[in-house]
Amino acid sequence: MSKTIGIIAGSLRKESFSKKVANVIQAMAPPGFEFKMVSIDNLPLYNQDFDDNNEVPESCTAFRKTIKELDGVIFVTPEYNRSIPGALKNAIDVASRPFGKNNWDGKPGAIFSNSPGQISGFGANHHLRQCMVFLNVAVMQQPEVYIAGVNKLFDESGNLKDEKTKAFLQKAVDAYIVWFNKIAG
Ligand code: FNR
Repeated sequence: MSKTIGIIAGSLRKESFSKKVANVIQAMAPPGFEFKMVSIDNLPLYNQDFDDNNEVPESCTAFRKTIKELDGVIFVTPEYNRSIPGALKNAIDVASRPFGKNNWDGKPGAIFSNSPGQISGFGANHHLRQCMVFLNVAVMQQPEVYIAGVNKLFDESGNLKDEKTKAFLQKAVDAYIVWFNKIAG
């Protein structure tokens, strides 16, 4: 049976570079794998009362189910103020609950960060790794994926025009599949 890997872009922006990178990665799924785009765009801000009072919004319940059913997850995150965007942290929090039912648990993961700047989302990449330790997502160590100058890599139709970046993303996806098979056994 084919394995389903969720691709989560950590930006709500319509023309998001993270979403564009996510689209490129999605097309790189090898045979036996489905790379499924998982949107975080319509989630409300998590409130613990949802769970404590049994009033979980339908969008949160559906998101939790989607995450639970994934075999693995690849995050494509931009950087906001040297960390991850609040929208991405919110999505991680939503799927981590209710207490004792962490839907991320045990999934092999990978983190690809990007930025128009030269530091490439390093801060976001490593803050996200910290969350993943607690949530028991085994994040691929190598290669580390930092995409700098992301605003210069796409043409007007959203196609990745930089061959070096394309080759690097392919190498990272290939490494993730090896990582996935190792962790998932
Ligand atoms: C940014 N940006 C940014 N870039 C960066 O490299 N390091 C940073 O700490 C920040 N901080 C930051 C904060 C906020 C609130 C915004 C809105 C932006 C710039 C950011 O990388 C740029 O807007 C990207 O285009 C955002 O990613 P998407 O939406 O293109 O995926």
